[in-house]
Amino acid sequence: MRTYDTLIEIGIKLSAEKDLSKLLNIILEDACKLCKADAGTFYLRNDNKLEFRVSRNLTLEEKMGKKNFLESIAPHALLISNKSIAGWSAKNKKTLNIKDLNNIKNCPYCHNTEFEEKTGYRCKSMLTVPIIDRENELVGVFQLINKTGKWEITSFSKADEKLAESLASQAAVAIRNAQLTDELKSAQLETIFVLGEAAEYKDKETGDHIKRVATFSKIIAETLKLDDNLIETIYRGSPLHDIGKIGIPDNILNKPGKLDPHEWEIMKEHTTLGYKLLKDSQSEVIKTAAVIAYTHHERWDGKGYPRGLKGEKIPLVGRIVALSDFFDALTSERPYRKKRFPLSKTFAMIEEDRGKHFCPKTTDAFFKSIKHIEKISDYFTKTSHLTPPSP
Ligand code: C2E
Ligand code: SIN
Ligand code: SIN
Ligand code: FE
Ligand code: FE
Repeated sequence: MRTYDTLIEIGIKLSAEKDLSKLLNIILEDACKLCKADAGTFYLRNDNKLEFRVSRNLTLEEKMGKKNFLESIAPHALLISNKSIAGWSAKNKKTLNIKDLNNIKNCPYCHNTEFEEKTGYRCKSMLTVPIIDRENELVGVFQLINKTGKWEITSFSKADEKLAESLASQAAVAIRNAQLTDELKSAQLETIFVLGEAAEYKDKETGDHIKRVATFSKIIAETLKLDDNLIETIYRGSPLHDIGKIGIPDNILNKPGKLDPHEWEIMKEHTTLGYKLLKDSQSEVIKTAAVIAYTHHERWDGKGYPRGLKGEKIPLVGRIVALSDFFDALTSERPYRKKRFPLSKTFAMIEEDRGKHFCPKTTDAFFKSIKHIEKISDYFTKTSHLTPPSP
């Protein structure tokens, strides 16, 4: 009964974890604990290969420290074929319970001793379990190594096989969910950057402006110690802050000089326009992007636009992007101003505007992370201006 409860608990824990790397770590740890294995390895399938993802080894971690142990394992992959143990288990979708690795006879696979020669760690018993999803597709494989008995290394039992297999079927569902979440997230991020770039393109921008604004906003949010979810939402939402520029006529957007009052009124519409485009989304990220588009030109002293909101009435996300957008705009070339402002001059302007244009605590967070911001600014400037060598 206790084991049954443990399995249910594990199932609940696994389904709650959406981060794939963390999930794989938890699965391997639980499998090792459940079957009393001293060591274990996790391979995730990619096409016809098994890619090494996670490893643990109580004996070696004790001996050399967890960090050194993890660093000692080079990334590697195995072909899904009968030649290796993990490969065989993956190819045949069968659990393989080997009592003694030094005594494998008449088998297509052989035991790779490279790791043992390198570390001096001896592998004796090994339980290899394929992870198969509901469509009967192989997700990956985990290997448990060296069953710890009372006094010595023994072999894994039939009961261990059953336990490990039921863990594997729960793991399959959780891994597929996490992979799907990953895929959706990267599809979303890609779409956001493409859209943001469309607005930028129209704005005759060069380089990585929206990536920089996203990165600076993230750094400020981190320094403000906002919660991880919100930090990521800001990172993902901020590239769309100027999406409303899509609706501004080219002759205004790209006017080389100063805008006349009528043009300026139209220009300011990019905030409301962006908000209208994004506000009805179901997605938390896009909804936040709508708020950012709407409020990134408000000012702390209430003299901004489009609504003239003041102080804390301006959503924090808008206050953050107002600052990173300003910083990035000044240190970049604009259609209406060819020269960039030097960093030192820009910093002085921001400091002068603390509590006027910019929210004080956001400004403080900006200056607290100034080294990091300078480095990023530098990195993007250098890399985005690299041209391929001429033949
Ligand atoms: P943007 O080019 O992305 O600039 C964002 C913000 O950075 C500006 O918001 C402003 O706060 C700051 N900024 C950029 N360049 C300068 C500068 O040379 N001096 C100062 N003091 N601040 C600067 P703002 O002013 O609300 O403008 C919003 C958008 O309107 C700008 O986005 C740009 O697309 C357009 N815009 C603003 N002024 C002009 C202009 O004189 N000519 C043209 N063609 N467009 C303009
Ligand atoms: C394999 O499954 O063949 C690689 C791991 C090992 O044999 O120790
Ligand atoms: C844009 O190019 O408009 C986005 C970055 C910025 O506002 O400086
Ligand atoms: Fe803007
Ligand atoms: Fe902008």
